[in-house]
Amino acid sequence: MDINSKNFKSYLDRDNALKKQYNTERAKKQHNKGKLTAYERIALLFDEGSFEEIDAFVTPADNGIEFGKVEKSFGDGVIVGHGKVGGRLVFAYAQDFTIMGGSLGQVHARKIDKIQQMALKMGAPIIGLIDSGGARIQEGIASLNGYALIFSNIIQSSGIIPQISVIMGPAAGGAVYSPALTDWVFMTSHTSYMFVTGPNVVKEVLNEDVSSEDLGGAEIHARKSGVANMIYDDEENTIIALRKFLTYLPSNNVENPPVTVYDGLTADINEKLRDIVPDDPNKAYDVRDVINLIIDKGSFFETSELYAQSIVTGFGRLKGKTIGIIANQPKVLAGVLDIDSSTKGARFIRFCDAFNIPLLTFEDVPGFLPGMDQEHQGIIRHGAKLLYAYAEATVPRITVILRKAYGGAYIVMNSKGLGGDFNFAWPSAEIAVMGPDGAVAILYRRELAEAKDPVSLKKELVRTYREKVANPFIADEKGYIDEVIDPAVTRSKLISAFEALNNKWVKVPSRKHDNMPL
Ligand code: HXC
Repeated sequence: MDINSKNFKSYLDRDNALKKQYNTERAKKQHNKGKLTAYERIALLFDEGSFEEIDAFVTPADNGIEFGKVEKSFGDGVIVGHGKVGGRLVFAYAQDFTIMGGSLGQVHARKIDKIQQMALKMGAPIIGLIDSGGARIQEGIASLNGYALIFSNIIQSSGIIPQISVIMGPAAGGAVYSPALTDWVFMTSHTSYMFVTGPNVVKEVLNEDVSSEDLGGAEIHARKSGVANMIYDDEENTIIALRKFLTYLPSNNVENPPVTVYDGLTADINEKLRDIVPDDPNKAYDVRDVINLIIDKGSFFETSELYAQSIVTGFGRLKGKTIGIIANQPKVLAGVLDIDSSTKGARFIRFCDAFNIPLLTFEDVPGFLPGMDQEHQGIIRHGAKLLYAYAEATVPRITVILRKAYGGAYIVMNSKGLGGDFNFAWPSAEIAVMGPDGAVAILYRRELAEAKDPVSLKKELVRTYREKVANPFIADEKGYIDEVIDPAVTRSKLISAFEALNNKWVKVPSRKHDNMPL
């Protein structure tokens, strides 16, 4: 190749023009808002020097619409390409807010469409770094169609490759539905927000003043709406966490999750576990203490930590192998199942099942949350999601009953009848149709009403119920659980149980798709 040829010169000129486009002015604009540029984000995400960009020189389409102005930039406001994260292939797109607010026009959409299709074909995760004002107003219907393509791709890829959205600025209008459809949403506090309609529209339509942060900031979506699964203080920490998160996941649904080298630092037999669950059934404890003593030291990656906190979900490792953990949290609302905790658990289970991640359940649940509020909002419909998700999961499924396992909640939390592969219970387990107070009130209503000292009678009946009915030994003797175990040996029991389930294979009858309650 003659480096003095016209074409080679054009090649160099274009390269220089691209570098000029990403000048310090654009970077300054982002930095002043506490944000990184799209290229800086890409550099943080991928292993050094591994990112290969494609379509860097495409230019926006001319739609013949004469309204506003379309900036004739290179790349049309989005960087797309592939590279390695922890040595494994990952595809990504990063929107550039400095070009027309990262808005999505026809060409911008086509680039994302291309990279999505590639990720699916190659069976590799795709990450969207989102910083966008939504559909590009100047490009009208072409922008809307662009979003339709992107949504459709996400749905086609769902359950085949992990799809993760990272919100690093605004995600407005159509920009919110791509994250909503993907498996996981990461957000950065204070600089990212998501809403279908922004504060200006809220003001116009409802005459309400609301800030972007209050309407759709990271905190709101992590705590209240449940849209954001993980939030971090700044963009760097968000991306560092995302890199770590990827180490738990397989690249696609026909691979097993990666196995890390186990450091041997976790005791297989740990007597501290005998003292975590308080003797008093009304006393709370943090189920994370149980989790952290059982799984490989330091391996717990909690998901949706701030949302529906009466259930804890997250990934961990047992001897280097990824497992998905679902645990009732006695510290919050006594670990009760409500609408939000049911849907949180269900979505987590379905992700694990799609990506061959075995499930481990720790159970201490008094039941479903009673009351008009929950009933009217549809606890029946939403609770059914958790039940459904467990029962349809074909990955290895193990439950350890730590304490309460009452009523419907017993059934739901991966009971034997629902297809639990191994169901263990600690001696502290209380397994029955309902808690002692409710049972005594129903069965002994007349006797209590007529008793001279109803308080003492009730106390005595509750004690007898606990002793005779709500214990794990009846379930053990009848085979409804597989074994009552010493808490100290839980880790070693789980390791051998998961090993025994390594080649679990379930044939699911063919159907177009199931019809889970939504
Ligand atoms: C074209 C846009 C744009 C858009 C922002 N810009 N959004 N250009 N189409 N959707 C441009 C602005 O004109 C501006 O250009 C630059 O991006 C930066 O925007 P600012 O408003 O100055 O920034 P900021 O104050 O940070 O506010 C960001 C914002 C706001 C909150 C995102 O721009 C905004 O509200 N945009 C509209 C959001 C929205 O309603 N989108 C919905 C589109 S409808 P200059 O040249 O001045 O730098 C949609 C439908 C799909 O998406 C529905 C599918 C289900």
